[in-house]
Amino acid sequence: MESAEYRKMYQVEDRHWWFRGKRSLVAAFLSRYAPQVRGRRLRLLDIGCGTGKVLELLAESGEALGCDFSAESILFCRARGFRRLARASAERLPFRRESVDVVCLLDVLYHQGISDDRAVLRQVYDLLAPGGVLILTDSAFQFLYGPHDRAVHARQRYGRTELREKLEGAGFRVERLGFFNCILFPLAATVRLWQRFFPGEVDQSSVTDVREGLNRLFFMLLRWEVSLIGRIDLPFGLSLCAVARKI
Ligand SMILES: C[S@@+](CC[C@H](N)C(=O)[O-])C[C@H]1O[C@@H](n2cnc3c(N)ncnc32)[C@H](O)[C@@H]1O
Repeated sequence: MESAEYRKMYQVEDRHWWFRGKRSLVAAFLSRYAPQVRGRRLRLLDIGCGTGKVLELLAESGEALGCDFSAESILFCRARGFRRLARASAERLPFRRESVDVVCLLDVLYHQGISDDRAVLRQVYDLLAPGGVLILTDSAFQFLYGPHDRAVHARQRYGRTELREKLEGAGFRVERLGFFNCILFPLAATVRLWQRFFPGEVDQSSVTDVREGLNRLFFMLLRWEVSLIGRIDLPFGLSLCAVARKI
């Protein structure tokens, strides 16, 4: 990502609806799909941990470890008080086989920093213990690719069939695969398409501060979606979300 994007993320992710909504989704998936372990704590790894807010959530469930290839990311995670951090690429993960119970890969696989997403998924599969889960979110629908994606150095956006095929190809059993950010999709897709055809002078991500009232409303909508996702896979949305298990 552009340097400015890490700072922006660090500044807004505590309260911004998009990040809070994503954390609600991860918390719901964790409580429902994380494996039960006996006699030790759950080991959770956030690959592409960004500025560390998700690590705070993971640390509530066990031993949380963060990994990112960006020096800026590691600095911001340290500023949040985290020490269990590795500066490493998802393409060369420095962890032992079967040493982790839960891996989060949240809006990372689509990044230009990943040249072979299939190889990354195979590595993640290897380092998960049997029964372990991968919780994944990523951006959906290639036709929405635009200035936001360029600013966050996105290589592509994913289709559901493509993602399922890649997860299964790495050996995973896909337990959930659907969309997220569904209710706001018509509005957000309109803005993204407008920006695609009428770009500004500088590519910028859509991560901007919004008024408190709107922020609260959008977050409530996402929380409602999370409660729906507990029961059904939503048919479209800005993001894809998946839970895949090593069997
Ligand atoms: C859009 S941010 C998402 C951050 C965080 N996962 C979240 O959901 O808030 C993408 C993150 O992936 C990291 N990243 C991209 N390519 C990577 C790679 N090959 N190895 C490790 N981290 C990578 C970036 O540095 C950035 O922190």
